[in-house]
Amino acid sequence: MFDLLVKNATLPDGRSQIDIAVSGGTISAVERGITAEAGHVLDAKGRLVTPPFVDAHFHMDATLSLGLPRMNVSGTLLEGIALWGELKPHLTHEGLVERALRYCDLAVSKGLLAIRSHVDVSDPRLLTVEAMLDVRERVAPYIDLQLVAFPQDGYFRAPGAVDALGRALDMGVDVVGGIPHFERTMADGAASVGALCRIAADRGLPVDMHCDETDDPMSRHIETLSQETVRHGLQGRVAGSHLTSMHSMDNYYVSKLIPLMAEADIQVIANPLINICIQGRRDTYPKRRGQTRIPELMAAGLNVAYGHDCVMDPWYSLGSGDMLEVASMALHVGQMTSRAAMRQCFDAVTANPAKALGLEGYGIAPGHRADMVLLQAADPVEAIRLRATRLAVVRKGRVIATAPEQVSTLKIEGRPDTIDPADYAPTDPPKGTP
Ligand code: FE2
Repeated sequence: MFDLLVKNATLPDGRSQIDIAVSGGTISAVERGITAEAGHVLDAKGRLVTPPFVDAHFHMDATLSLGLPRMNVSGTLLEGIALWGELKPHLTHEGLVERALRYCDLAVSKGLLAIRSHVDVSDPRLLTVEAMLDVRERVAPYIDLQLVAFPQDGYFRAPGAVDALGRALDMGVDVVGGIPHFERTMADGAASVGALCRIAADRGLPVDMHCDETDDPMSRHIETLSQETVRHGLQGRVAGSHLTSMHSMDNYYVSKLIPLMAEADIQVIANPLINICIQGRRDTYPKRRGQTRIPELMAAGLNVAYGHDCVMDPWYSLGSGDMLEVASMALHVGQMTSRAAMRQCFDAVTANPAKALGLEGYGIAPGHRADMVLLQAADPVEAIRLRATRLAVVRKGRVIATAPEQVSTLKIEGRPDTIDPADYAPTDPPKGTP
């Protein structure tokens, strides 16, 4: 007898009429026609059951602080950083924890069960680190929260940041962060990349840097990050977040850069909602989009994951913890409209960030953790199109959130709610079409 049996699921890879049996928080079987009894049966009715959404890049210490102490008028990254600096002296442990927990509740309702959050270590008091470590422990039953030691005001630029970052790692922060494009000079930025990779290698930790979050095509810290990754033997364990300068770089230079990134097995993390809002602010027309070169990076075999980055904070006043909204924005900005590319966007908010974060036991397969989400959608493309309702969220075999079905806006007399993918599938151009 199983604890949970999910009946008649469609999986993201297209397998249909699949049953998923769960015992003791672990998936026991994934196959058709399981007949054994279970304590709880969830009928998927042919809909999509996916592993949970994963956010590869977030700022849990700043979330839901919108308007404190004022709004970002220019909408730029730099005013956001300045605004966060105004708020920092007024932060309290209780306020940080309360806002983060509220966000985590929202995340669960959206099927978002793993988040990598950067935590500002620029303030030597490390109030934010203490609060986020507290949150990591409190939410562990339902969210895997990874923390990155992030020197928001510059590793070399902010007085005391070098020492504070080391102390944050001593306190148990999981990942080494950085922000080379915000150091005083390009040379300082490059030096910070080298120093931070050295720390990661010495401590056996992964790296995730805010890297080249700028429209300046000469911001080439990703080149240094790739080379330092290889130099320190950190291949596969280093993430470059944002990489928006790649949008503006010369094509020839990029043709040399991407193979170097592939050699270093850099984990690429794009933040579509934020990148489209913040980049190109000094442009007139045409305005650059500022999203890194996602299709080209994927084509080169790099693992590309998406992050939400911000929700209602000094940098972004919108957001709802919905990684399908993030996937949709990446799809539109990157013009990833072929059906294969849309599915890649779904992977970039599920399997790809799970890989970037090194999550163990992720995915719907025997022996893996029984974490999954039932969506009111037929497949990953429909899930993105509809920002599909999370009908049930399962964590370690327990249903921890549910939502009622939504009335389809596409209900046509005589047709089912769910459109057969075959009805609208062949939109990709035939092979060989320019
Ligand atoms: Fe960020």
